[in-house]
Amino acid sequence: MKQNGDNIVTIDGPSGVGKSTVARRVAEGLGFSCLETGAMYRAVALKAIEAEVDCDSALLSELLLETTVDFSPEGKVLLDGRDVSVLVRTERVSSFSSRLAELAEVRKFLVKVQRRIGEGGNIVAEGRDMGTNVFPRAKYKFYLDAAVTERARRRFFQNGPEHGSVLDVENELSRRDRRDTLRSENPLRPAPDAVIIDTTRMNIEEVVSTIMLRVKDISLLGN
Ligand code: DC
Repeated sequence: MKQNGDNIVTIDGPSGVGKSTVARRVAEGLGFSCLETGAMYRAVALKAIEAEVDCDSALLSELLLETTVDFSPEGKVLLDGRDVSVLVRTERVSSFSSRLAELAEVRKFLVKVQRRIGEGGNIVAEGRDMGTNVFPRAKYKFYLDAAVTERARRRFFQNGPEHGSVLDVENELSRRDRRDTLRSENPLRPAPDAVIIDTTRMNIEEVVSTIMLRVKDISLLGN
């Protein structure tokens, strides 16, 4: 079993850039599993919302002690063994997870789980700090970017007008960008050895094939 990062692909980038879709497709192409770490922050946020524990509460540490976050073999996110993959997609959970992700103790808790899941390799790990912090030795690191106006446009067409205007979506994405890039704990930024892909004028297929071209030798590595 390799643990040197040769068989780990990391994909980082801001909200709404299409990381999850791209990561899933790349993982499928390589026969790897996909580690969607945003879903893990969302799962912890759901737990805190359900328990009515806020970010500044002293009860948060206790809550984390009683929390497990994992994935089913089909890639569903499991909170204490319960499939919450649909429940974590609400706007309320999104916004709360963005605040929780600023907290060192939440990050420490989840990074430990992420490294345990990734220790056997053969994964495509997607998030904000995969290449910089969680898997710094990954051989293939990518950072997807796109203008906030384009990310807002894509999300608006994906979610529909009932979730607000394009401008509302853009404002919300900008707010998340600020939280992600300005936090002191593992802020969003490209790893020095990451390949940066500006996807503003690219479609999903083009992004996936750009990544696949770069990792094509991975299948020759053997495991
Ligand atoms: O990618 P997403 O929107 O599902 O992520 C939800 C929140 O979790 C988002 O506000 C950023 C945060 N996050 C993070 O801080 N670090 C990660 N590795 C993944 C997500």
